Amino acid sequence: MFPRGSTKDTKSLFVGANFGGKLPPTRALHFVPYFVMHFFRPNQATDLTMVFTTSSKLISAIVLAGALSGAGAFVQKPFSSARGLLMSSSARNAVSKKDSYTVTLLPGDGIGPEITTATKEVLAVVCERYGFKMELTEALIGGAAIDATNDPFPQESLDQCRQSDSVLLACIGGYKWDTNPRELRPESGLLKMRKEMGLFANLRPAKVLNQLIDASTLKREVIEGVDIMVVRELTGDVYFGTPKGIDVIDGALFGGVVVGRLQYVASVIRFRLILISCLFSARFATLLLVKLQPTGQRVGYNNMIYSESEIDRIARVAGDIASKRGGKLCSVDKANVLDVSQLWRDVVTDVITKDFPEIELSHMYVDNCAMQLIRWPKQFDTIVCGNIFGDILSDEASMLVGSLGMLPSASIGESGPGVFEPCHGSAPDIAGEDKANPLAMILSAAMMLKYDLDRPEEALLIENAVEAVLDLGLRTPDIKQEGDGCKLVGCKEMGQAVAKLVAEIDMPAAINV
Ligand code: IPM
Ligand code: MG
Repeated sequence: MFPRGSTKDTKSLFVGANFGGKLPPTRALHFVPYFVMHFFRPNQATDLTMVFTTSSKLISAIVLAGALSGAGAFVQKPFSSARGLLMSSSARNAVSKKDSYTVTLLPGDGIGPEITTATKEVLAVVCERYGFKMELTEALIGGAAIDATNDPFPQESLDQCRQSDSVLLACIGGYKWDTNPRELRPESGLLKMRKEMGLFANLRPAKVLNQLIDASTLKREVIEGVDIMVVRELTGDVYFGTPKGIDVIDGALFGGVVVGRLQYVASVIRFRLILISCLFSARFATLLLVKLQPTGQRVGYNNMIYSESEIDRIARVAGDIASKRGGKLCSVDKANVLDVSQLWRDVVTDVITKDFPEIELSHMYVDNCAMQLIRWPKQFDTIVCGNIFGDILSDEASMLVGSLGMLPSASIGESGPGVFEPCHGSAPDIAGEDKANPLAMILSAAMMLKYDLDRPEEALLIENAVEAVLDLGLRTPDIKQEGDGCKLVGCKEMGQAVAKLVAEIDMPAAINV
């Protein structure tokens, strides 16, 4: 019923304005409704009483111009053409190995500062052991940035991130900002950072550790050995698609679809459409004035949109990663219902069959994938999906591992620094209580060493230390099971224990990239 931003919809808008194109041209001249654009405050109901006497051609021109400018809102700005891609995940380094790095730390909100402190301790020991420097400079994002600057991701933070070798982010959000207008919500800062830094590929590994099998709600035989990489597209989809918003629809004269669409264009271009129907020829114009009655009904809409080049580049990242893992790639979509998913499926198939012929490619509808992840997760090796599906499926995958508190992630672009962050949120309910699990952020720091700083051995050392700390039986509340014989520890103690092990355990012999 409502336009969703395709060029097709734009076309039907014009058809609608011509009464479905069914009237013969001469009759159409007499009966075509004339639309006059009139400045208005968006979303404010207007009672119309307006008379005009002018030629039909002029009015038609006004209508056309208005419709054209409005129609622009339906079409996404052209995307930059596919940029020669890409990377080998292991070889893609924003910098090559060096003796001194600059890293921006974004502690964010809630438990963010606590897990950041724990992670800093671990990194300090890694630097000491391997004899290199890492200058960690904090910047603001999320609620903390809103409080300090009234902006969830201020320009200074963006500049600082761009100038760094890499960025390590904790988490953002909290009850305090939940009712803020969207542009002043912490999440908007995160999305702005992803978009501005071009971080289109989000890697979310879900690897079940033997030590935590019992922390999962699923049966041992289902999850033992699970090792999945979710490759989530991160800068497109409904997250960023336009048009989007919440509008009030006015009453309908010629049927909900036609007027709904016109009204929609009007609101997009910040004009109010006024509908006037001319019943006779322009010469003897008798104007029927129409009063648009607001219905008060609101509509909310976002646009699920992907361009070919966006799909192409994420498919290449996924193909590259899958070829270095188990060689299996499952592309997730909803192509049985969504056109955007059909394009997704076509482009992924093209890229993988042509450029990664060795990969075993399969496709799965997202609802089925959600079910299969719980039923038989071992069937998956690498999953590639769009932004919203990846958001949901990666949270689901984290439950295979036992806790969202264990899941790191890497967000990377074609060049420049990546952002490394745990998949979990800011857990405001336990903030400041020393109950948070710092392991996901510590593992995110390992991903940073591997993907951005050309230090895969150091990354492996951290991963080994995390496993060793679990072997020692230390557990934060989220991964503690009743009667498991393990020791309950807080965020601080967990961080210190990992740091100690990073200093003591054997350096990794082989580098697992
Ligand atoms: C994530 C989060 C974010 C997202 C939110 C906080 C905007 O859920 O990183 O998965 O939806 O991408
Ligand atoms: Mg999420």
